[in-house]
Amino acid sequence: MCGIVGVAGRINAESVLVEGLRRLEYRGYDSAGIAVQTAEGPLLRARAAGKVSALEAAMTPELTGATGIAHTRWATHGAPTEGNAHPHRAGRVCVVHNGIIENFKVLRETLQNEGREFASETDSEVIAHLLDRELDRGQAPKDALLAVLEQLEGAFALAAIIEGETDLVLGARRGAPLVAAIGDGVCFLASDIMAIAGEARSVIYLEEGDAAVVRPSGVDVYDSAGQAVTRPLSPASVSMVLAEKGNHRHFMQKEIYEQPEVVGRTLAAYVDAVSGCVRPREGIDFSQITRLFIVGCGTASYAGQIAEYWFEAVSGLPVKVDIASEFRYRNPAFLEGDAALFISQSGETADTLEALRLCKRAGLTTIALVNSPHSSMAREADLVAPTLAGPEIGVASTKAFTCQLSALASLAVLAGAQRGRLSAEQQAGHVANLMSVPSLMAAALKIEQEIDALATELAHASIVLYLGRNEFFPLALEGALKLKEISYIHAEGYAAGELKHGPIALIEEDVAVIVIAPHDALFNKTRSSIQEVRARGARVIAITDEPGASELEGEISAQLLLPRLTGMAAPIVSSVAVQLLAYYVAVHKGTDVDQPRNLAKSVTVE
Ligand code: G6P
Repeated sequence: MCGIVGVAGRINAESVLVEGLRRLEYRGYDSAGIAVQTAEGPLLRARAAGKVSALEAAMTPELTGATGIAHTRWATHGAPTEGNAHPHRAGRVCVVHNGIIENFKVLRETLQNEGREFASETDSEVIAHLLDRELDRGQAPKDALLAVLEQLEGAFALAAIIEGETDLVLGARRGAPLVAAIGDGVCFLASDIMAIAGEARSVIYLEEGDAAVVRPSGVDVYDSAGQAVTRPLSPASVSMVLAEKGNHRHFMQKEIYEQPEVVGRTLAAYVDAVSGCVRPREGIDFSQITRLFIVGCGTASYAGQIAEYWFEAVSGLPVKVDIASEFRYRNPAFLEGDAALFISQSGETADTLEALRLCKRAGLTTIALVNSPHSSMAREADLVAPTLAGPEIGVASTKAFTCQLSALASLAVLAGAQRGRLSAEQQAGHVANLMSVPSLMAAALKIEQEIDALATELAHASIVLYLGRNEFFPLALEGALKLKEISYIHAEGYAAGELKHGPIALIEEDVAVIVIAPHDALFNKTRSSIQEVRARGARVIAITDEPGASELEGEISAQLLLPRLTGMAAPIVSSVAVQLLAYYVAVHKGTDVDQPRNLAKSVTVE
């Protein structure tokens, strides 16, 4: 979380910094700030609570220069006020920071005892003081930075500028992402290359523990031992250019509508439709794996839960799904033949990344299913399985989720084939089923108007219960999460069979129950759950298909009709309905759909 941009050596660096912040706003938007080295000499800074637009309003014309740093914040220590906004200043130094300095209290006390005064409640401010102290002691900027890094505990990415150093930006990363980049006579630092796409020609993906000295002429990198190192230069690809909303009102809406295309693209990377096979992936042999851990956070973990049903049913491979923040601290017991698959859109989520590292240390084969090909997870895992969703800007994940599901379904079929559980004909059946997803999704998107009408009413619900069975249970969890995230309605997902074990006590008049009820083998069981809640006065909305709707006639208050779905395509296509429902409820409630309160897209702190 938190976005960092640094620029060394570009006229009007402030404009690039602000544009970079806009592109990084998905990482946090509690407050924003900028500091530049002016031609006249002093460092000038502006900060504002709220979004980047508030910062722009707070910037004066004097705040201009060729070198500077900027930050968009997701608050960890200290309320999201202007006073706690970055950059933090101490003496000659301004610092921006992403992460948590775990030993900040001890450092702060020591610095205060030395007479240093703190202006904020943040952990980050200690970095500015430490750097200023090293400079006071006569250290050169690079040595001062390395000396500070030795004193910091925790995870961070940071950037700093020093008054009087007109063409210098310092940076470092440990446990949080930071890239350096090179343009024409100008160099950059950024949390995400997207911040400076279009300005940079090549990128250096800094490695764990690296420090960087960035000047207009180039970037010097030092490893965690302080030794100068050469990191490879990668071209800054044009596809990194910022996504635009196009004709859509929100990024989330655009991303929902992109799904037929990006799911098709992702499937094409896994599946050979002509031969009816899933292509083998180099290094992945499911016949050698005896158990698969699947680990992720938020929406990604729900994709993993759906995949658990698939892997076990299609390939007989035992699967254990975990939330990364639990997995990494619960001392998981590993067995010979275990492998671990990590699901992440960003590839940077702190808990998932640490879970991956834990598995690597334990000697497991690690697979990263990620949407960001240059992310930490992609670089650190033994094997990468890509999703090709393209940049996802809306904080609530949509197209990344269905691309994850599409890749996972393909891998489940591959596992079935490699483990001898699927005949060629069965494999071809699954492949054909998956290849039908893009067009079925396009058909499902046509229910938009019905959803819009339904959402007007649902916006008044005090509580929403989402129910489902089998793979539709994790999809119910995802549906509830989407509603919570962007419409702020208290929503909970339950396995329909669990209803009687507690949640049914919540049923009263203004409670809405959304039941994902396709006409499948468990339809009659789900139907019983519908009757149980209906008998207690709940308003029931069924997400179903034609046969389901005709059987439920008279038993439900409203329905959303999806095409008839079978196999693994069913939960992937049904995702469209839960996403659109959350989207339209949020639109009716007037919330900030793409940047809902308190959330951030990439959670790089634990
Ligand atoms: C945040 C986002 C979610 C996302 C989760 C995991 O909470 O708001 O949309 O599912 O992080 O992110 P990842 O990048 O690891 O998929």
